[in-house]
Amino acid sequence: MLKRVSIHGNWSSRMGFVLAATGAAVGLGNIWKFPYITGENGGGAFVLVYLACVVAVGLPVMIAEMVLGRRGRRNPIGTMKLLSEEESRSSAWRFVGWLGVATGMLILSYYSVVAGWTLSYTVESISGAFRDAGPEEVGAMFSGLLASPLTLLAWHTLFMGMTVFVVARGVQHGLEAAVRYLMPVLLVLLLVLVGYAMTTGHFMEGVHFLFDPDFSKLTPAAFMIALGQAFFTLSIGMGAIMAYGAYLPEDTAIAPTAATVVAADTTVALLAGLAIFPLVFANGLNPGEGPGLIFQTLPLAFGMMPGGVVFGTLFFLLLVVAAWTSAIGLIEPAVAYLVESRSMPRRRAALLIGGSIWLLGFATVFSFNVWSDLTVSIGDRAFTMFDGVEFFTSNIALPLGGLLIAVFAGWVMSKGSTLDEFERGASTGYATWRLLVRWVAPAALLIVFLQVTGLVDITNL
Ligand code: PFF
Repeated sequence: MLKRVSIHGNWSSRMGFVLAATGAAVGLGNIWKFPYITGENGGGAFVLVYLACVVAVGLPVMIAEMVLGRRGRRNPIGTMKLLSEEESRSSAWRFVGWLGVATGMLILSYYSVVAGWTLSYTVESISGAFRDAGPEEVGAMFSGLLASPLTLLAWHTLFMGMTVFVVARGVQHGLEAAVRYLMPVLLVLLLVLVGYAMTTGHFMEGVHFLFDPDFSKLTPAAFMIALGQAFFTLSIGMGAIMAYGAYLPEDTAIAPTAATVVAADTTVALLAGLAIFPLVFANGLNPGEGPGLIFQTLPLAFGMMPGGVVFGTLFFLLLVVAAWTSAIGLIEPAVAYLVESRSMPRRRAALLIGGSIWLLGFATVFSFNVWSDLTVSIGDRAFTMFDGVEFFTSNIALPLGGLLIAVFAGWVMSKGSTLDEFERGASTGYATWRLLVRWVAPAALLIVFLQVTGLVDITNL
């Protein structure tokens, strides 16, 4: 058995990892992004493809990241380099680590701006701005926010400051403590919202939209978007789980731990859908509204329900927390790299990386106002900078990272090495995992890539 230790220390227990990884997984991806892309892609059939991607591709890749992370016990770049050398393979594999570090920084540059919206909505809710507001007022509130670069910038700055603050202090204390208490509260509040959605008289419409598959609504691009969302929501494909895996206790069973995180993440996304779509239909809104969807639906519910100010404030506050624990996962690989490989103090590394991401975020901030006309047309869509970064990271960089990680774990690492990590703590299912990670995950990812580049049309397969 290989005994290596991380210089950052370990999670205090298996539960510490589960909470941190769930904290990274559950975020804006579940509550903001999942509903709006489901809305844009026609509902049930998309959800089905997404669930298949989560189980057949997402779970095996998450396990692979944990296996590699714990074996290497370093930041993703260091881990990939060490393991490839150990297996006598090309050290060029370390570029998978670099790809992950860069992807995490790019994602955080827009993620932080959207998290800023949730900060702004927390304040709006406290001030009673949602009380009895109709769809037009709520819509105007959202477009007003996007139209003001300075307001967006201020919230983005605050959110990046919060992220740097926690990461500078070291991951374990702040993080473990925050997620332990706040995640369960978020779950309860989501249930309250689902309960409210049941009273709208349009609940079943929401259920049908989410769960009745109409395959005629499924476009080829939807496969790519579903796969990208599976990666994004589980925080895989960019080394975050690999970095967290580096702090896993020696005897933690990897497969059931990964399954717990995946189940928690999926539950939150589906609950968010059940809370939001009935409201969309009850208020005659368009489910394909796009990134503003939750910001234009949920305030309506809070504005009408008894105790809406309290529930609304709590909800947006918890969304801030969910985004915060995810942001930490996005920045940790880059910070861990500077600390380990450049011997930089954690505080300075967090500031340097956080500052660069903050600057990158300007592109997103301006793409909603002063640069909104700066677009690139691909096919029949015009992409702003925000759309471009979002599309590139979720639909290309994460699946590519996932493909390379799956190939590395399934084909480059020897069976003995992966089995050694997998079997600790008596995990079962090694053969199934190996099959998925060697064949199913790479095949699914390759097909989707070929589809993107237009070489194959999945609809004709
Ligand atoms: N999983 C997060 C979400 O669903 O909001 C986003 C994310 C966090 C992606 C951390 C990647 C990551 F490393």
